[in-house]
Amino acid sequence: PAARPLVGLRALVTAGPTFEPIDPVRGLTNRSSGKQGYAIAAALARRGAEVTLVSGPVALDAPPGVRRVFVETALQMKTASDAALPVDVAVMTAAVADWRPDQVATGKIKKAPGGPPSLALTENPDILAGLAATGPRRPRLVVGFAAETENLIANARAKLSRKGCDWIVANDVSADVFGADGNAATLITAEGEESWPRRSKAELAEALADRIAAHLTTPGAP
Ligand code: C5P
Repeated sequence: PAARPLVGLRALVTAGPTFEPIDPVRGLTNRSSGKQGYAIAAALARRGAEVTLVSGPVALDAPPGVRRVFVETALQMKTASDAALPVDVAVMTAAVADWRPDQVATGKIKKAPGGPPSLALTENPDILAGLAATGPRRPRLVVGFAAETENLIANARAKLSRKGCDWIVANDVSADVFGADGNAATLITAEGEESWPRRSKAELAEALADRIAAHLTTPGAP
């Protein structure tokens, strides 16, 4: 039926922050709420897609009909995302930590008279770029997100080509976005740009899911 255009198609969505442990009680994380990714997973599932939602630690219920896999670290998120393949579309909304502590202390790090410890950091893999790399398991459509405060379009377009993804949803985060319910965004594709005025994260998810459905089901659709 027309209302469920994604029946028979598979989707991967990443959402939320990652948590990179420093020791058994501490870690590096960020303020991503996961709301936008969860809303997209829900919108794709409502259109009939078989959705795997790879989620960092958030306090949100799994949307109906969505298979959720909880992870903590970026490395776990990459492993779980790879395990969800093959998919027709991947939407990467997670706020993946750029770095993780080099070593995770096995015991709680103590306060010491010598002063604070220094944290050596290692770069995390770019999950989006890895998925978007050409190969037999590349999803037909790979969508990334970009949070920008300036030169929104130019920076997002540079990110599109650097990461090799097909579309970028560029969020203007000069206004507050993290944890908020509204989001102003521009959808950037190879063909052009479409700007979406401020709307709820649920409405943004509906608009994006409609665009994804059109792309995957209409030959020649942008
Ligand atoms: O480079 P930047 O972090 O701004 O890119 C954001 C986009 O890349 C988002 O779609 C995010 O989910 C994805 N990303 C990723 N793995 C990383 C860093 C970012 O999948 N290590």
